[in-house]
Order: sequence, then structure tokens, then C-alpha cells
Amino acid sequence: MTSFQDYYASNQDRFVQEWKDFLRFKSISADEAYKADCVACAEWLERHLAGLGFQTELWPSATLPLVYGVLPGNPKKPTVLFYGHYDVQPPDPVDHWHSPPFEPTLRDGRMYARGAQDNKGQVFYFLKALEALGAAGADLPTIKVIIEGEEESGSTAIHLGLEGWAEKLKADVLMVCDTGVLSPGVPTVTMGLRGIAHFDIKVLGPKIDLHSGVYGGVVLNPLQALASVVASLHAPDGSVAVPGFYDKVKKPSAEDLAIANEAPINPVEISAALGVELTGGEHGLPATERRGFRPTLEVNGIGGGYQGAGNKTVIPSEGFAKISMRLVDGQDPEETLRLVMNHIQTLAPAGTRIETLHPVAGGPALLLSVKAPVVQSARKALLAAFGREPVYLWEGASIPIVAKLAKVSGGQPLLIGFGEEGDMIHAPNESFSLKQLEAGYRYVTSFLPVL
Ligand code: BES
Ligand code: ZN
Repeated sequence: MTSFQDYYASNQDRFVQEWKDFLRFKSISADEAYKADCVACAEWLERHLAGLGFQTELWPSATLPLVYGVLPGNPKKPTVLFYGHYDVQPPDPVDHWHSPPFEPTLRDGRMYARGAQDNKGQVFYFLKALEALGAAGADLPTIKVIIEGEEESGSTAIHLGLEGWAEKLKADVLMVCDTGVLSPGVPTVTMGLRGIAHFDIKVLGPKIDLHSGVYGGVVLNPLQALASVVASLHAPDGSVAVPGFYDKVKKPSAEDLAIANEAPINPVEISAALGVELTGGEHGLPATERRGFRPTLEVNGIGGGYQGAGNKTVIPSEGFAKISMRLVDGQDPEETLRLVMNHIQTLAPAGTRIETLHPVAGGPALLLSVKAPVVQSARKALLAAFGREPVYLWEGASIPIVAKLAKVSGGQPLLIGFGEEGDMIHAPNESFSLKQLEAGYRYVTSFLPVL
């Protein structure tokens, strides 16, 4: 046993208690009703960092505060900036949880709570690794920390403030622990994230809901129009049917594709776990490529009209849809938003009007190189810590601010996280295993001293 494993074992009970304290905050950024809970969570984090020896600051904003800290270290070593988020997704549907989402519960070696993994659990093992490294008097680089409270809902404050904080964020390495492993027990370096942009569609028809007998066959139903607009956004071959959508898409290098295919998505395994065939996206491309290297357009919500019990014969006055796009290397979020929203504007059938609303350019894709020196240092640390080579994964999900944060801070991004498929992030009964908490701690304690 290493001294760090010893330290973990002798402090695990306290770690669990502190982790639970962190998880009890209802830091739901999507809902303003939880603003005070978010602020309290940020203050808890700030105190925690101060307890680890950090010089801390709470950066207020018009929305939610950011937590910042610096722990001065060996100036000869590259400065590390750690990014994470303290906000969580709404816990809905709450009645699907086996224990309440904000009453963290340890069952069978897993901590159940909203945020147990995404991202509080992963931030927490980073903090506990720093505690252990500090206690051991390790020769550490200067560590800076920035933890935002709006990753799950637009990253407003960090987007607006970032350039102004450039000096404070200056770093050589940008470390992020908000991703997962390919499969249990396999250390994984994430080599890419897709970007994201989203907006809403409204289709407007008559001023008010109408009797569908009196006006059926006379007034065009806005929900019928909405359905045909939404259906027209994809071609039968699964590709996005918006002219120009793929124009700026850069193809992955043959080298990246080859490495990605060494650790492919297992369609049989995933199909079995999800209870569905993997038929989404562009036909003819393997799932690994579709998820890691190709952009998509998704309908996240659609509605309008009568949704209650029984039937109601009505031509509703309007319908809505919520659309998001995952973007890849080469695609600019603002430009793609404009392209798709303008296209949709042209689709309104006579007798309806289309509005596109609430555009959010979350952030562009991020693409890293296996050859990057920081990836190679991490590879060696993972090999030493876990006794096996890591695999490299091109992720389909997004951490919207990372690309911009890398640019502004100057830090080389390093995305290594320990989430597992079964953690059910964003869903009811989110959890994170103690095993993965320890794996994350083991990675951080192995990596930081050798940087
Ligand atoms: N931690 C996730 C991103 C993630 C998920 C990375 C799974 C690797 C595997 C992050 O908190 C997240 O959920 N991002 C959102 C951003 C969106 C709300 C703007 C996403 O990807 O949907
Ligand atoms: Zn998330």
C-alpha cells in the first residue's frame, strides 16, 4: 500500500461525511428558486479550499458566484488550473428516486445523490487528493482552482467574466475531472468533447385555440406544421438536412480514428443496457465515429395542445420544440445557430408563423492530441497508478466552457474522469461508487507530483 492509499483508508469515514455535506446543497443552477442554495454551496467550497491552504476568492456575478483559489507551489513546475462545477441538474422526476436526491445515502458501496458524480464527486476526490498530498509534504506545482456554478445551464458568469480574469487563470495545464471511463476499471483519457448550441422553436397559428370540428380542414393545425418542420430537419439516411450544416465540419485524422477504434463503443453491450437498437445518427458510420466525430441535431422537447386526460377536440393556437446541436471540430456555435435558425424561419407553411427563440451558443468542440506532452505525462501516471495503459475516448457530451478556458488561461487541457455508464448522471438515482472515488483520488495523487 502506498502512503496515499493508507491516508485514504484511515480517513475514508471523514471523507464520506464531508462528501455528504457537499451533496446536501441543492445547487440547481437551472432554477432561480435555488440561488441561495447555490451561493451556500459556493461558500462551503471556498471554506473547504481555504482549509487546504488555498488563498481563496468568491467571484460574484449577476447570476451565480464562482469559486477561485490558488495554492502556491514549486515555481519550476508547470502551473495547474483545475476546472469543475458545483451546480447540478434538476433532480426531476423526484418520485423515481429510491432515496431523496439531496439526502446523500451510501448503499452497497455507492453514494446516491444528485451530483454524486457530476460533478461534485469528481471535484471532491480532487480536493481530498490535494489534502493527502499536502499532508505528505509533496513537491507540488502551483495549483489554481476555478469552480463555476452554471455548467449545467449556460455558464453565463464564466462566459462573461473570463477575459477579465485571464491573469488570475494563467496556467500551463488545464485539468478537468468531469468525464468518464470507457468501461469499469479502465483508466480513460478523453481526447475530445463535442460543442453545443441550442434554441427553441415556436409555431404560431390562430390567435386562440379553436374547435377542431368547426375549423378542422379550414385552419392549418400548428402542431401538424411543427411536426413536419421538425421531421424535415433530418434526411432518411439520418443526416441533418439543413443546407450547409456540414460545410465547416473537419474530418478526424486517420490517426485519431484508428486510436478511437482501438477502444470502440460496444453496440451490443450498449444496446442491451439501454434496451434499444443504436439507429440514431448518420447511417453507414460506426457508433464510435457518430458520437465522437460527427455533429448532430436533436429534439429535446416538443409540445403544445391538450395534454390532459381523455380527449379534447382542439386546433391549438401554437406549438413549441426545443432543439440542441452537438458540434464538432470546425463548427462555430454562433454561426451554426444562425444557419439553422434562419433555415427554420423559411419553413413555416402558409397559415403559420415560426419564431426561433432563446439561442444559446454554449461552446465549440474541443479536440486534443494523444501526442500532447501533458497527455503523455498523464498516461505514465495512470500506468503507474492502475498497472495498465489508459484508453483514449472521443466523448459525445460537452463541457461548454473548456475550449474557451483553455484559450484564455493558456493551459493545455487534460480531461480525465472516473464516471461510469451506470452512474446515471442527469437521471434519477445518480450515484458514484466509493471505488471510483478512490480511483480518482489515486489518479490525482499519482499525477500531480510527477508533473
Ligand atoms: N459532466 C458532463 C459532461 C459529460 C457527460 C462528459 C458524460 C463525459 C461523459 C457535463 O456536466 C454535462 O452534462 N454537460 C452538458 C452541458 C449542457 C447542459 C450545456 C451536456 O453535455 O449536455
Ligand atoms: Zn452534467
